[in-house]
Amino acid sequence: MDHFELKNGALHAEDVPLAAIATAVGTPVYVYSRATLTRHARVFREALSALPRVHLAFAVKSNPNLAVLKLLAKEGYGADVVSAGEMHRALAAGMPGADIVFSGVGKTGREMAEALDAGLGQFNLESEEEGVELAAIAAERGVVATATLRVNPDVDAKTHAKISTGKSENKFGVPYDRAAEIYARLSALPGLTMRGLAVHIGSQITDLEPSRVAFAKMGDLMRALREQGLSVTHMDLGGGLGVPYRVGETLPGPAEYGAMVAEVTRDWDATIMFEPGRVITGNGGVLVTEVIRVKPGAVNPFVVVDAAMNDLVRPAMYDAWHDFAAVQPTGERMTANIVGPICESSDTFAMARDVDAVVAGDLGVFRTAGAYGATMANTYNSRALVPEVMVDGDKWAIVAERIEPATILAAERVPEWL
Ligand code: LLP
Repeated sequence: MDHFELKNGALHAEDVPLAAIATAVGTPVYVYSRATLTRHARVFREALSALPRVHLAFAVKSNPNLAVLKLLAKEGYGADVVSAGEMHRALAAGMPGADIVFSGVGKTGREMAEALDAGLGQFNLESEEEGVELAAIAAERGVVATATLRVNPDVDAKTHAKISTGKSENKFGVPYDRAAEIYARLSALPGLTMRGLAVHIGSQITDLEPSRVAFAKMGDLMRALREQGLSVTHMDLGGGLGVPYRVGETLPGPAEYGAMVAEVTRDWDATIMFEPGRVITGNGGVLVTEVIRVKPGAVNPFVVVDAAMNDLVRPAMYDAWHDFAAVQPTGERMTANIVGPICESSDTFAMARDVDAVVAGDLGVFRTAGAYGATMANTYNSRALVPEVMVDGDKWAIVAERIEPATILAAERVPEWL
C-alpha cells in the first residue's frame, strides 16, 4: 500500500500533485511519501510483535537519504550500515551508535576504528581474519568490540543471482560447517565479545521457504554453540523481504514473514535482530520523469524519457520491472518501449509494455523506486545527480538537491604538465 494515487485525474504524492513538484524542481526527481514510509516502518514492527525481544536496524543502503533516516530514527529504528559513510549518515540522523550494526564484507581497519570510536553497537563479522583484526584494534583502544559472526548457510534464496548472498559460492559470511570452530576461537580473543550469529541470504525474497530453512539452520548452530558453553544472546536474521513491483502482484508480506520467524525462533531465547531495507522504502518512492519525445520504432514506438539508467539502474542491472504510469492519464493506452537518453541499449526501462498513452511533454512515474533508486544513481553521460523530495500531507521539501554537471566538473583538475 502506498500514498501515490490519482486525485481529480492527476497523480499525487499524498496531497501534493506530482506535476507541481516537477514544475518547481524539474525532472527527473525522486519523490518520497512520508506517510508511506512511516506506515511501512510500523507494519514491519507490528508484524514482529509476537517476538519477545526485537532490534530493528534499517538497511541504510536501500535509501540513505538523511530525511528518510531521520524519519526512521523517530520510528525507533537503528541502522544496518556497510561503510563509515553510511555510519556517519545514521549518526547524523540521530540514531544512537549503540543501535547501529556494521555489516559488510570489506570493512577496513580505519572504518572499524572509526566505528569503535563512535560506540557502534555490533559488528557482523564476515571472516575470522576480520574478527582478529577488530579485536586487535579494540584492544589497542582499550575497548571491547561487540560482534556476531555472519554465517553462509548455503541456501538458495531464489531471487536474482546478482542479489543472492546465501549460497556457498557467494562471498558473504563463513561456511556453515566451519562456523562453530571460528566462533569459539573468536570468543576467546581479548577485545572482542561474541554475542551471536548473523545471516542474510538475499534481497527481493518472494518465497519464505528458503529463509525458513536458513533460520532453522542458524537455530541449530546457536544450540550447538551454547552446548559448547559459548554465549549466544543475539541472532541477526538480516533483511531481504521482497515487495510487489507490479500492480496486482501478491507476495508474502510482513505478517506472513513475522509469523514464520515467530514459529522458527519460538524457543531461541535471544534478541532477534532484523535489517530490513526494501520492505520499508521500496513502495515509499517514485521517480518522476518527463517524456522528451516519442519516436517510431520497428515494432513499437520508443517513449524517450528524461530519466535514465544513471538515475534508476535497476532495470539495466537486474532486469528489474518498475511500473510506469502517466501523471495525467487520459484513459488511453499504448504499447511502447520506454527508454532513457543514455547512449547504450541497456538504458531501457520497459520493452513492448502496455502503458498509459503519453506524448512529448507529459510527465510519468516509475513506481516502487524508493529502495535502491537514488542511492545507486551516478553521473554517467555527464548527467546531473538526481534530486530527492519528501512529501508530508500537503507540504513538501527538497531533501537532496540536484547536483549539476558543472559542480562535478568544478571538482576536476587538469595537471599543469598536461
Ligand atoms: N542486510 C544485509 C547484510 C544486506 O546485504 C542487505 C542488502 C540488507 C540487509 C537489506 O536487504 P533488503 O531488505 O533491502 O532486501 N541493489 C539491489 C539490492 C541489493 C541488496 C544488497 N543487500 C536491488 O536494487 O535490487
